[in-house]
Amino acid sequence: MPQLIAGNWKMHMLRAEAVALAQALRTGAAGGAAELLVCPPFTVLAAVAEALAGSAVAVGGQDCHQDKQGAHTGDVSAPMLRDAGASWVILGHSERRLNHGETSELVREKTVAAVAAGLTPIVCVGETADQRAGGGEAEAVGWQLSGSLPQGFADGPGGVLAYEPVWAIGTGKTPTEDEVADMHAFIRAELVRQFGDAGAQVRILYGGSVKPANAGALLALPEVGGALIGGASLTAADFLAIAGAAARG
Ligand code: 13P
Repeated sequence: MPQLIAGNWKMHMLRAEAVALAQALRTGAAGGAAELLVCPPFTVLAAVAEALAGSAVAVGGQDCHQDKQGAHTGDVSAPMLRDAGASWVILGHSERRLNHGETSELVREKTVAAVAAGLTPIVCVGETADQRAGGGEAEAVGWQLSGSLPQGFADGPGGVLAYEPVWAIGTGKTPTEDEVADMHAFIRAELVRQFGDAGAQVRILYGGSVKPANAGALLALPEVGGALIGGASLTAADFLAIAGAAARG
């Protein structure tokens, strides 16, 4: 399976810059070995999907509600994302777990809703700095994995997992290569424990301060099935350079 290089644009990009970035990616992405995905904010998702229609770059949301529709002011459902042109959705990002109080149980419900709407979920897990300092990183990630992933997560085309240590996001710090390899091996073992053989097929992305300079080394590590990229996904040159590293990885 190709490595997945996914850009999480977070709360960046007005319409004109979003479409310009999408057009630059459309031109630059053709012919690469990696699978490419961008996840723009809701407000520009349809415009980005239109700019990328028929290209090598897929489009996803950054979150969705667990219900299909209803009285949920300010929320967006999985069918709405699909309708706007998304085929993927990021769920349980630490910025939602920590800033919006999302529990693993809620992330699991959202994942069920995403799959039901025909979206491929990317479920995020990762320990805080305190958890790692106390040697509790595997336990923290293990709880998130057992709580966030619904039955059938690994079936069919299957969901994707993203390991993003909270302390590495937007900080320029990354775990050592051994730390990434150890955590990815742990996550693989947990996926196989939960889902049997299908758990061996789930791609496990690394996220947290991935840049063109470190992407090649990170993407070459065992069990790293791609990358989830924040800051470096906001410029076409950086995102495409990382995609190029994946092709070599
Ligand atoms: P940065 O690449 O900016 O560290 O963000 C990572 C991230 O949170 C992607 O979801």
